[in-house]
Amino acid sequence: MWQTPPGDTERAVGAALDAGYRHVDTAAAYGNEAEVGHALSAAMTSGIARNDLYVVTKLWNSEQGYDTTLRAFDASMDKLGLDYLDLYLIHWPLPEVNAFVDTFRAFAHLRDQGRIRSIGVSNFEPEHLDVLIDETGIVPAVNQIELHPLLPQQELREVHARLGIATEAWSPLGQGSLLENPRVVAIGEHHGKTPAQILIRWHVQLGNIVIPKSVNPERIASNFDVFDFELSEQDLASIAELEDGTRLGPDPRTFNFTG
Ligand code: A2P
Repeated sequence: MWQTPPGDTERAVGAALDAGYRHVDTAAAYGNEAEVGHALSAAMTSGIARNDLYVVTKLWNSEQGYDTTLRAFDASMDKLGLDYLDLYLIHWPLPEVNAFVDTFRAFAHLRDQGRIRSIGVSNFEPEHLDVLIDETGIVPAVNQIELHPLLPQQELREVHARLGIATEAWSPLGQGSLLENPRVVAIGEHHGKTPAQILIRWHVQLGNIVIPKSVNPERIASNFDVFDFELSEQDLASIAELEDGTRLGPDPRTFNFTG
C-alpha cells in the first residue's frame, strides 16, 4: 500500500481481498494503516477469517530503539484494529543510527508475548543481517528489499537462501517502469499475458514473495492471474539481461533518514 493515498487505500485493499489476495503490506510511514484496518475489518465482517489474512506492517525509522518500538507497535495495532500481527518489519537498517539490534530485541519480546507471529526486516544488506543475527541469535523470517529485473539482488538472494530468510520484493514492477520494456512486452505477447503478469511470474519463479502495488481493481485482479503459465529458460535469460543495477529507492548503506 506504499504511495497509496488514504482515500484510495480502503477501496484497493477491498478489491484485492475480493480478487483472492490475503497478504496485505503496509507501514507506519505510509500513513494509511487505519484505512487498511477498516478494509480488514469489513472483510472479516463479510466472512474472511482472521487466520486466512496475512497482515504486515513496518516500524518507522524515528521509532527505532527498544521502548520506542514497543510504543510504536501499540500505535500501529490501534490503527489496524487487530489483536495480533502476522509480520512486523524494521523498515530500514539506518547504519549510522545503529539501533536495529535493540529494535529487534523489542520485536522478539512482542513475538514472545504472542502479539506478532513473525519478525523480520526490510532493506537490510548482508552486513546488517550478520550483525543482527550475531547480536540477537535470531534469524529474521523475511527481508523485504527493492528487487526487480533491473536490480535482481543475486547476492542478497544467495545470502537469504543460506540463512533461511524469505526474500520479499518491493517495487516488483520497477514502479511501473518495466511495463513498457520491449523484452517484457514481447515475452508477454508470446504467452498471451500482460507485462505485469510476466514480471510477477518472474518473481514467483525466482521464489520471491511479491507485492505488486495497484489501486485499479482490474489490474489488481489481473496481477493475481499468474499461476496458469510458466516462463521458459529462454524467457528468464532474456529478462536477466535487463539487469543494470538501477535502484529506484534509497541505498540502504547510506540512508539514515529519521524524519
Ligand atoms: P496503478 O496503481 O495505477 O495500477 P511497483 O509495484 O513496482 O511499485 O509498481 C506499481 C506501479 O505499477 C503503479 O504505478 C501501478 O499503477 C502500476 N501497475 C501495477 N499493476 C499494473 C498493471 N497490471 N498494468 C499497468 N500498471 C500497473
